[in-house]
Amino acid sequence: MTRHQIRVGLIGLGGMANHHARLLSEIPEAEITAICDVNAELLRTVGDKLRVARRYQDYASIVQDSNVDCIVSVVPNKFHAEILDLCIQYGKPCMTEKPFTVDFAEAELLKEKYEKSPIPCMVGFSYRYVASFRYAKHLIEQGELGDIRHISANYLQQWGAEMFDTPYSWRFSKTMSGSGALGDLGAHMIDAARYFAGEFAYVSAVMKTFVKERRLPDSEQMRTVDVDDFAAFVAGFENGAAGVFTTSRNAIGFGNHLEVTLFGTKATIQVNCEHPKTVRRWGKRSAEVDSNVETLNVPERFELNQLQDFLNMIRGEGTKELPDFRDGYENQKVLDMLIRSSG
Ligand SMILES: NC(=O)c1ccc[n+]([C@@H]2O[C@H](COP(=O)([O-])OP(=O)(O)OC[C@H]3O[C@@H](n4cnc5c(N)ncnc54)[C@H](O)[C@@H]3O)[C@@H](O)[C@H]2O)c1
Repeated sequence: MTRHQIRVGLIGLGGMANHHARLLSEIPEAEITAICDVNAELLRTVGDKLRVARRYQDYASIVQDSNVDCIVSVVPNKFHAEILDLCIQYGKPCMTEKPFTVDFAEAELLKEKYEKSPIPCMVGFSYRYVASFRYAKHLIEQGELGDIRHISANYLQQWGAEMFDTPYSWRFSKTMSGSGALGDLGAHMIDAARYFAGEFAYVSAVMKTFVKERRLPDSEQMRTVDVDDFAAFVAGFENGAAGVFTTSRNAIGFGNHLEVTLFGTKATIQVNCEHPKTVRRWGKRSAEVDSNVETLNVPERFELNQLQDFLNMIRGEGTKELPDFRDGYENQKVLDMLIRSSG
């Protein structure tokens, strides 16, 4: 059976949009028919490159365009809620990036509207589409770990450290982003923990801003940073498990390192986004063996294009692991609990 084309409107044409455009280019039934960005130059170059004629600078217009069946929203966090709100209003399925919103109050307002007029909604917790993470979930479901006792997760990047002299951007503004490393990277750790171990019950966090002001781009003028560079937290889960988490933009030597270790009553497994095709597994340690760690190769069937799952969701055929509206909402609830706990 041939599948109907799905016409996609892409909002935000920055760094992460390249990734989504590439994912869409791999899906035969997907077609980007409209794009939107406030940056006119980017709109022109990306429009020419992707050969997209319908170009907008305001997102309300692209959501309302009748030549667009669904929205992929890849804009700074401040705009996530308003774009999703418009999609709910106009009944347009939406893939919206993480963090879900800038705070939990926004998430609660959206929930009210969404419950009255639900739409297919994916939230960009992209690590659920790393094959090793999907395989780890399968191993857990197969009972390979027994009960999960505790989790350790690190999400480390280096680009915020002084030595890189990274200029000020929306990612350093609370108004624009909600929080710093916590919402940017920590949201992925929270999602991985919820995916593998279930709901958070309580948390306690420490958050730090190491680089307190940054140069404005192409300028010597400085701007104060009002979000965290680092967040660490401990958590208890509803099922009795515990977790220890660290995230940083100041971790020299680490480009994009998300590693999650799950300690069960029968075994321990570890996934790392830098090694998407393998899972490490430890069985019981005994004196007779030199090494009790095995490297498991991830079977090919665990590979899945995130936006293919979104398009399948629109047809009512998304996977059960798909990160949806509720995952965004619950994630934002944990982010707010963490910020409050850090004082
Ligand atoms: N899931 C992931 O792994 C992942 C990775 C990176 C970024 N992200 C998320 O994607 C989003 C975008 O991040 P990025 O790194 O691409 O940022 P970016 O700054 O590189 O790009 C953002 C783009 O949005 C445009 N924009 C700003 N305001 C706009 C508006 N009002 N209307 C239309 N366009 C607007 C900017 O001009 C820019 O082109 C963020 O929410 C971020 O958290 C997710």
